[in-house]
Amino acid sequence: MSTAVAPAFQPVLDQIAADIAARPGRGRPADYIPALAEADTRRFGMAVAELDGTVYGVGDWRHPFSAQSITKAFTLALALSLEGEALWEHVGREPSGNPFNSLVQLEYENGIPRNPFVNAGALVVTDRLHTLTGDASGALRAFLRAESGNAELDFDGEVAASEAAHGDRNAALAYFMASYGNIGNPVPDLLEQYFRQCSLEASCADLARAAGFLARHGIRADGSSLLSRSQAKQVNAVMLTCGTYDAAGDFAYRVGLPGKSGVGGGIVAVVPGRCTLCVWSPGLDERGNSVAGVAALDRFTTLTGLSVF
Ligand code: DON
Repeated sequence: MSTAVAPAFQPVLDQIAADIAARPGRGRPADYIPALAEADTRRFGMAVAELDGTVYGVGDWRHPFSAQSITKAFTLALALSLEGEALWEHVGREPSGNPFNSLVQLEYENGIPRNPFVNAGALVVTDRLHTLTGDASGALRAFLRAESGNAELDFDGEVAASEAAHGDRNAALAYFMASYGNIGNPVPDLLEQYFRQCSLEASCADLARAAGFLARHGIRADGSSLLSRSQAKQVNAVMLTCGTYDAAGDFAYRVGLPGKSGVGGGIVAVVPGRCTLCVWSPGLDERGNSVAGVAALDRFTTLTGLSVF
């Protein structure tokens, strides 16, 4: 006999928001992208999407923010759906234990990045998606609009320009990998695609809904299949082990869910077969993950018992 009771999400979210509001110390916004540096660290929003797209939320859950590296979970899924296993010839799937923008492993490992979520790996995935579609960021935007149901989702030109103006490290990563033959497009074109991708503005509600295919074992909002069940498992597994960079072990320990963070302060997390979550608060820890966001997801799995473990 099952004793599991489906949790009512709204009271859980209200409880989490109250707990988070009582916590001092929220980290600092990303300061290496000037357009993000002004963000107010007191902002907090969280949304949970059921498998059928019903969304519950609290706080600033409808407020658009800069999705940044959260987009890397979606570009990985799109590239994997088009290229299949051959994608893994270009990028690995091991945690790096290094910061998201690190160059240090690339030379030892012959221009093949450790995983699709460190910047080097995300550049490779966007490069593959650009080759396969002719417009990587356009494919990403179309997918996110369709899955979220928000046809207004778009890039923020100011954030993209700001990042391009401070993009020397990403350029270095891309040129270095190109020297090993692991980048197919001209590097300036790839960087333009990547900066545009990172600048995508979306709310917790949008991103929780858009990630729904990862909880539905690869099935899109319209019932069609993006990924096989096995591929959806693969993306979730890489999110669990690599989605929060050199904090992935601590995130798995505290939250126990596949998750993908971004320096805009958002984190998307997946409860396979049950729901998807997105939390946003712009104050980051030293590894680039939202302080209040990780705390909120930690509370969510504690209060509901919903985790992969
Ligand atoms: O490449 C960058 O620096 C950013 N556009 C994205 C970085 C990011 O979000 C890393 N995540 N925590």
